[in-house]
Amino acid sequence: MEFTVKSGNPEKQRTACLVLGVYESRRLTPAAEQFDTACGGYLGNLLRRGDLEGKPGQSLLLFNVPEALCERVLLVGCGRERDLDERRFRQIITHAATVLNDAGATEATLYLTELTTRGHDLNWKIRQIVEAVEESRYRCDALKSKKDTPRRPLRKIILSVPGRRELPGGEQAVREGMAIAAGMKLTRDLGNLPPNICTPVYLAEQARELAARFTGMRAQILDEAAMEQLGMGALLAVSRGSIQPAQFIRLDYHQGAATQKPYVLIGKGVTFDTGGISLKPGEGMDEMKYDMCGAASVLGVLQACAELQLPLNVTGLIPAVENMPGGRATRPGDIVTSLSGQTIEILNTDAEGRLILCDALSYAERDEPVAVIDIATLTGACIIALGRHPHGLFSNHPPLAHALIAAGQSAADRAWELPLWDDYQEALDSNFADMANVAGNRDGGAIVAACFLSRFARKFHWAHLDIAGTAWKSGKAKGATGRPVPLLVQYLLDRAAEAEREGDRAAH
Ligand code: BES
Ligand code: MN
Ligand code: ZN
Repeated sequence: MEFTVKSGNPEKQRTACLVLGVYESRRLTPAAEQFDTACGGYLGNLLRRGDLEGKPGQSLLLFNVPEALCERVLLVGCGRERDLDERRFRQIITHAATVLNDAGATEATLYLTELTTRGHDLNWKIRQIVEAVEESRYRCDALKSKKDTPRRPLRKIILSVPGRRELPGGEQAVREGMAIAAGMKLTRDLGNLPPNICTPVYLAEQARELAARFTGMRAQILDEAAMEQLGMGALLAVSRGSIQPAQFIRLDYHQGAATQKPYVLIGKGVTFDTGGISLKPGEGMDEMKYDMCGAASVLGVLQACAELQLPLNVTGLIPAVENMPGGRATRPGDIVTSLSGQTIEILNTDAEGRLILCDALSYAERDEPVAVIDIATLTGACIIALGRHPHGLFSNHPPLAHALIAAGQSAADRAWELPLWDDYQEALDSNFADMANVAGNRDGGAIVAACFLSRFARKFHWAHLDIAGTAWKSGKAKGATGRPVPLLVQYLLDRAAEAEREGDRAAH
């Protein structure tokens, strides 16, 4: 989809479809009012007759509006003006996008940018519109023999801004929205692929392709022999039961100063999680193809960084494995030595995410990172604790936690912090090794998993996002969500802006 920003009066637009808002009850927004005055009060009459109340989810498509230059007018219900929060705004846009996709107009001019959303500026609205429109158009039909592509698809959306002064900011908001949407699409596509296609080697191939597409991007893949050499005993223990070879993927995006330390993103890349010898129950097991969504989000974020040419250094690390119960598989009770040198008694082979992440965390030490953020579909317990709305967030550095929460808030991709107190650590005591990989009971499972990871993150500022409840949707609308790409790109945009402010200060 092509998005442009434009200033101008609604009644002057020669467009295939003019999209205007109506607040509840039957009240035209300022742009709609202005259009209506120029067209002799046609819309006002419709509303008075009771054809549209203005509730969210309602809309009315009009043709041949008298004296109008546009071919169609789409009136969109926006609810009560004072109830218009972030969530409501997204709902309104998603509804408008769905109607537009089916309307047959190939182009539309939106005045929904004028809606009043408390605490958010015009550029926030533009970015949200771009993301919501792209999200509503997403289909995963690459493996269906018949695709349901509309005959006359919507190709172009024009977003109105009040004046010419708002054009540059609006254009930047469109660029950011497009980069985030494309990153989310990559993340969703990879997540939705079946596990017989999306293997560790396939993920490595994706990283190589990104590196080939963008300057400033470099991919390096470690094979099992190299991991053995380094001493990644925990990661390799997970991979042992599978025929698919493990891959340790490193993707460097280098557009910051040469001396600038990198931000490191680590994504859990279990391309299928059977549980291993601690086999999972059968019901819904297909959804364990989504156990690589952390990895997919790292690729999505790096692609967005490259598209936006952010002046930062960002390194993606992806431990990619398949967790299978083969003849060589790790047994409950096996003890392995991690890259850190700490030994781990593997009591449950289904707690495999922490085993691959701990070696990736130790590996990250060599880069002296500014901050390390791991992203993982780590625990079912996180879904019990928080449901499926926010990501679970843990951190050993309060300012980092704060920055991530703020980024999630402004990107409409929220995280909620859970405690990482030492009180929970003793649950991982083992009689035979430095630690066990699971506790003896299910209490606070998401926290205990984070405590396990924290033992490998002592040398840097670190945060952990448990995306078990947010990376994909189950049921009829089953599919990957593309989260937390918006949160992470926002976090990095904020860091780039911060660096620029500091650079300015240094220059003065
Ligand atoms: N990938 C799963 C976590 C998961 C389960 C995410 C369901 C989303 C939905 C992870 O590898 C796992 O199996 N975790 C176990 C840990 C337990 C054995 C301590 C879990 O959550 O049951
Ligand atoms: Mn598991
Ligand atoms: Zn898993």
